[in-house]
Amino acid sequence: MLLIGAATPADLPLRDARWLTSPDLAADLTHQPAECRSPSHDAALRRSEEIGRIAFRAPLLLGGQAARAGLSCATCHRNGRTNAHFHFPGLSGDAGTADVTASLMSSHRGDGIFNPKPIPDLAGDPAKLKISRDPKRQDLEKFIHGLITQEFDGPEPPPAVLDAIAAYVRSMSPGACKGPADVPVVLGTMLDDVSEAVRLAEDSFAAGDKQTGRLLVGAARSMLGMIDERFQVPGEEGSRRLLREADSDLKAIELANTVSARSFDPWRSKWAERVRQFRSAEARSLFSESVVRRRLGER
Ligand code: HEC
Repeated sequence: MLLIGAATPADLPLRDARWLTSPDLAADLTHQPAECRSPSHDAALRRSEEIGRIAFRAPLLLGGQAARAGLSCATCHRNGRTNAHFHFPGLSGDAGTADVTASLMSSHRGDGIFNPKPIPDLAGDPAKLKISRDPKRQDLEKFIHGLITQEFDGPEPPPAVLDAIAAYVRSMSPGACKGPADVPVVLGTMLDDVSEAVRLAEDSFAAGDKQTGRLLVGAARSMLGMIDERFQVPGEEGSRRLLREADSDLKAIELANTVSARSFDPWRSKWAERVRQFRSAEARSLFSESVVRRRLGER
């Protein structure tokens, strides 16, 4: 779909716009498929699923080209589902497909054969899925490990994070799809994800798992970056400054040699107030579908 005389997706500060070939870009940028999950009743497993949910959304989990471009698992599997209009040059054939063995993303597995496949819905019909979800078989762990380290050239993930992503994927099923098929992309959910990532990071550091703690802090920072994209509109310089300050507090934790509960004090003392500020600006930001449409020159 060509938008004649209007802003092009490239003019939009939203990263996702770069890999969407969409008949209605504004709708795609402000909506996503609903997440279909039933969290475990077991507290430890539920915590692991939450870590997986965060890591799934973090570009830093992947390496090389994918990480540089800002791709995460959730770029292709939006909310764990699919992405009907995903199109990444060199990686996709038709919209909604990707070749996860393409040499573009990997120095390991690139098979030199262009073979894009439809992006599967991870909460889809189990009969159509290729990889067994049986926790005893660990097929999912092996597959995800291969995806991260081979297809996407990522660093070796911390063991707790690999288990967590597999646990997160196992918590999805068609039976858990309730309510509408699509949900709006909202600031509130992203802010909750940031809070959750920092909380889980703090627990991980307290339990002596620095690697997982760091990855989660990094994930929280990349989510702040995604929120910042949405605030790149005239008049929201103040919100963006607050986002940068929040990011600096987290960066200090990420880079610290030793992290204790006190390391989180500067962050904790200001986060609630910052959240109030961000929320008050949401309607003027690129979270709003009408603001995106105006920016694209549609109305
Ligand atoms: C560039 C888009 C893309 C990214 C990024 C991506 N995937 Fe996928 N994923 C695919 C495609 C395409 C397939 C189907 C491959 C096939 O059919 O051979 C797939 C398949 C899968 C499957 C197997 C589904 C089945 O049939 O059982 C799982 C699980 C999965 N991905 C999880 C992940 C996780 C976890 C990440 C992040 C580490 C990730 N994906 C990142 C595109 C992507």
